[in-house]
Amino acid sequence: MMLRAFTAALCAPGVIGAIFQGEQQQAPLLTTPNDDSSASAGVVTHEAHPHHSLSFTAHSGGQTTTSSSDDKRPFDLDVCPGATAGYTGYLNSGSKHFYFAYFESRASPKDDPLVMWINGGPGCSSMTGLLMELGPCTIDDGGESAHENKDSWINAANVFFLDQPIGVGFSYSDNSSEHARGTFAASEDIYAFMQLWYKAFPESRSLPFSIAGESYGGHYIPIFAGHINDMNKISPPELQIPLESVLIGNGIFAETVQSTSYYDISCTNATGIGPILKDGACKKMAASVPRCEYLMKACEEYPDPIVCKGAYDFCGSELQNPYFHSGRNFYDVSKPCVGPLCYPIMKSITTFLRRDNVRKAFGVNPDTPKFEACSDKVGDEFRRANDGLIDTRPFVAGLLHSEIRVLIYVGTYDWICNFVGNERVFGSLPWKGLADFKYQQENNKQVWEGGLWWESGMLRYVRINGAGHMVPFDKPKHAINMFSAWLNKKPLV
Ligand SMILES: *[C@@H]1O[C@H](CO)[C@@H](O)[C@H](O)[C@H]1NC(C)=O
Ligand SMILES: *[C@@H]1O[C@H](CO)[C@@H](O)[C@H](O)[C@H]1NC(C)=O
Repeated sequence: MMLRAFTAALCAPGVIGAIFQGEQQQAPLLTTPNDDSSASAGVVTHEAHPHHSLSFTAHSGGQTTTSSSDDKRPFDLDVCPGATAGYTGYLNSGSKHFYFAYFESRASPKDDPLVMWINGGPGCSSMTGLLMELGPCTIDDGGESAHENKDSWINAANVFFLDQPIGVGFSYSDNSSEHARGTFAASEDIYAFMQLWYKAFPESRSLPFSIAGESYGGHYIPIFAGHINDMNKISPPELQIPLESVLIGNGIFAETVQSTSYYDISCTNATGIGPILKDGACKKMAASVPRCEYLMKACEEYPDPIVCKGAYDFCGSELQNPYFHSGRNFYDVSKPCVGPLCYPIMKSITTFLRRDNVRKAFGVNPDTPKFEACSDKVGDEFRRANDGLIDTRPFVAGLLHSEIRVLIYVGTYDWICNFVGNERVFGSLPWKGLADFKYQQENNKQVWEGGLWWESGMLRYVRINGAGHMVPFDKPKHAINMFSAWLNKKPLV
């Protein structure tokens, strides 16, 4: 999840063994659940990041629903059936503690890529992505339990779910006056996190690394990846992060380009099930589109909060409010808005992650506050920092020019970060491949099981028909096939 409306310690108690402190410890990243559990927990520090440490505990996965009864593995994450072996833990940075949950690939952990998954918001927990979208297990209605997700992205990659920034999900600060300072500040923590990760688990440096996410991930990921790429250029080889690609689903990149697309989704048949709103409302909206465009151009040219606030207020009240008041799901035009964030399942996730046994199994530090799926406080802090005004298109172009592959995928039923807006962004993104990319978009769309796709050079764009904002939730098979093809550099079929 999820662009929001509006917008948008050390070691935990050892699950397996004792905590030890070490300069550089035996990295157990790729051990199988059947190995003896040496080095099952630890604290890692890095001389280049003296204010940071990484504390973690190993887990041996959750019982698979398909496993035979004579399987003698200890299932210490059995609250999450389908979980593979891995780690949970925290990056500690002064008083800040960033939570992660890591799962080995179900296929070939020694060779499969390493992927970081982050949800958006800003302020939403990646644990919602884990339990609702692509993690090893999926929440059951009511939040009492979870079941195996056969279409998890861990089928094709080693994946960790990271809660960031501080105040999101299981990430927290000991200092209550500390607050989120926006995407650029967050990128420094992400970079430190990755350096400590490779110190703890050095084998994983040989694996291609990708950052994946959705929604406000259109802000986070280009900036996080851009920062890693910049640091790589000034780092010795042994400290370089093998960043190979980014994957961004239903992202927000440039509000100035994407804001008028609310009209297209609400009032035309772009989705194939439209128009959603009534004729009268749409006539009024149509009349506001040119003025919204004009004001957004002013904001783009003079990105001053005073100018942009005027534009955002006008476009919001004229082009977004009619849909908000329609009772439809902001993330899926085919559904009504029911429950927190329009999905009843969100409540089940919150219920589940507040249970003591679940917190314990996921290695959550007892000091960690009660789980919230999305933090309003963090959302407000980002708004106050005018973080949404950042146009992340130049960062995407920077990645492409550095030969870092970019996958943009978009469910066509989303309203809030919809495909019409995404296609306007990428059909005009200034980079060296623009002319050919635009040609492909206009003349050479390819068909695959999920819908249409096209690409040029390092940039691939994928539509998933009939999926909303959370593509792996709505179309799990298409999502894992797309993910796996991308990591294997294969075309979609
Ligand atoms: C808590 O955070 C605030 C704001 O960043 C800072 O000024 C203060 O020094 C911090 N207090 C401690 C005890 O670290
Ligand atoms: C919208 O598009 C779909 C798919 O192309 C089509 O079947 C439907 O009839 C269209 N609806 C309207 C109102 O034009």
